[in-house]
Amino acid sequence: MLNKRLRACADFVSGRGIACDVGTDHAYLAAELLKSGKCREVIASDVAEGPLMAAERTLNQAGLMSKARIILSDGLTQIPPDNVTDVVIAGMGGETIVHILSSCEWIKSDVNLILQPMTKAALLREWLCSNGFFIIEEKIVHDGRFFYTVMRTSYTGENFQLSDFNRELGFQDWTDEVVKDYGRFRIAHYKRLSSQMAEAQPEKAEIYRKIAEELAEKTGEDTK
Ligand SMILES: C[S@@+](CC[C@H](N)C(=O)[O-])C[C@H]1O[C@@H](n2cnc3c(N)ncnc32)[C@H](O)[C@@H]1O
Repeated sequence: MLNKRLRACADFVSGRGIACDVGTDHAYLAAELLKSGKCREVIASDVAEGPLMAAERTLNQAGLMSKARIILSDGLTQIPPDNVTDVVIAGMGGETIVHILSSCEWIKSDVNLILQPMTKAALLREWLCSNGFFIIEEKIVHDGRFFYTVMRTSYTGENFQLSDFNRELGFQDWTDEVVKDYGRFRIAHYKRLSSQMAEAQPEKAEIYRKIAEELAEKTGEDTK
């Protein structure tokens, strides 16, 4: 069974065609997409040999190898685009995800991109919105001690300007209790950044103060 983080990624897969799981590691996500019947074919790719051996083991043990292709690739560079409708890039830092996206031309088409950054989600959002990608929806997942962000995006060719709040927190459903918990958890972070920057970078400190304030409004939390 998938953990909640990978479950959220799987839920964002369209199932219209082939899904490519970039940085597949043990191929748990790829295997589940086949097992559940959501996809009839998957590509499980990774930049390293070790994870691909683990991926092969998982898919073999589940009797799914006939529906999977395992490909050694830095990001999408070795992936044939034919009939790939969904690309999942999960469990990596935001900078690595930007590196992978910016090295591939064919994702600038009708491909459903599911991105799950472990760090630097704000940097990833900024890159997406300045490079013609539209963030269609986001989900916050709370698993164990951690919150994870999962986003679904696609290329439109149109750039747009993000507000400071949306760059940092994304496009969430603020009526959702998990999202509210995440927001409350982040207030302390932005308040800390704001006070740390008060002297040296007052403009940035003000941005973070306002984000903490907006979060408090959205979550009903008292920031005093
Ligand atoms: C922490 S694991 C995440 C596994 C799985 N996607 C998940 O979310 O649970 C990161 C995987 O990404 C792979 N990886 C890192 N950089 C990569 C790149 N540029 N291209 C493809 N795979 C990469 C690593 O080898 C590793 O197997």
